[in-house]
Amino acid sequence: MPGRRQCPEKEAPQNVSAAEAENVTPARHHGAMSTATIYAEFAARECHDVSPAYESLSIAVARDREMIARLETLPPAKRQPNLLFAAVRFLDGPVTDPGAFLGFATERWPEVAAEMLVRATQTNEVGRCALLLPVLAELPQPLALLEVGASAGLNLFLDRYSYQYSDERLGTGEPLLECTLTGREAPTRRPEVVWRAGLDLHPRDVTDPADRRWLESLIWPEHDHRRERLTAAARVAAADPPLLLAGDLVDDLPALAAQAPGHATLVVFHTSVLYQVPDRPRKTFVDLVRSLPGHWVAVEKPDILPYDDLPNPPDETLHNVLALDGRPLAWCRPHGQGMVWF
Ligand SMILES: C[S@@+](CC[C@H](N)C(=O)[O-])C[C@H]1O[C@@H](n2cnc3c(N)ncnc32)[C@H](O)[C@@H]1O
Repeated sequence: MPGRRQCPEKEAPQNVSAAEAENVTPARHHGAMSTATIYAEFAARECHDVSPAYESLSIAVARDREMIARLETLPPAKRQPNLLFAAVRFLDGPVTDPGAFLGFATERWPEVAAEMLVRATQTNEVGRCALLLPVLAELPQPLALLEVGASAGLNLFLDRYSYQYSDERLGTGEPLLECTLTGREAPTRRPEVVWRAGLDLHPRDVTDPADRRWLESLIWPEHDHRRERLTAAARVAAADPPLLLAGDLVDDLPALAAQAPGHATLVVFHTSVLYQVPDRPRKTFVDLVRSLPGHWVAVEKPDILPYDDLPNPPDETLHNVLALDGRPLAWCRPHGQGMVWF
């Protein structure tokens, strides 16, 4: 893509409830969550009512001591449910029936592990644009967008997509992103973007078949609407490739930010990225981004990017926090399905 620099057998119980999944013994390793608990929590907090297939797979893995032992031969950052399930999908394995899934993952473990070691969860979820839009539309226009942890850079085109906020429709382009918005009015305009650039450790190219296949493998089995919007957004990006640089969000941010045109408002943003960044560089990044001109928009988990005095989340499922310049504004569903303004 021009404009882009590359760097680099066991039967599992079916229909197990999320509550049963919680009965997995919560062994703790070095103060962190055990692998089994990570899978049980993923089932209960992220998949319940969102992906029955991944809910049942996560519960099955959490209860399978042999699979947990296999996963624990990998570095901690490589044991995540999304990475395991996407690696099996990437290898054309079954991801809806827990027994078939565990059989495949066991029999083909060397290949599955190899994919997990060389790949990372890089889901480029354009649904998250609906979370960013209300804030970006209210900043002084035009905007120079700089996304860190951009994956394939699809969220840099948020001004070209259309939106359905509860009953309010905005824009005409594809994909159409639906978001239940409560606690404030829907935005009435899309931002005007005059410059867009992304930074990622491993940028993905939607025109590269292997990258595209990996991005598709990261989408959950039942989520055809997410596959469709990936396809539509990839068309937009392929027609006008964004500037996507391989680099680190601390080391390489200042030089890229310096390229933004001075007449536009610089906005550095990131969604679901900082959980992949260790504590120390994460703190360094926060200090760095605060020192840059313009604005900083974040959508991250509150245990990763904490704030004082957050209201209670709408329910027990996973919610991220939308924040502008370090000021928390709303609870957000992970794929952009909904947001509750504070
Ligand atoms: C879960 S994906 C989210 C992608 C995108 N922000 C979205 O919401 O669709 C996280 C991305 O952050 C990138 N990433 C992780 N650590 C990074 C770092 N230190 N510097 C730059 N990118 C990083 C990963 O390569 C991955 O593409």
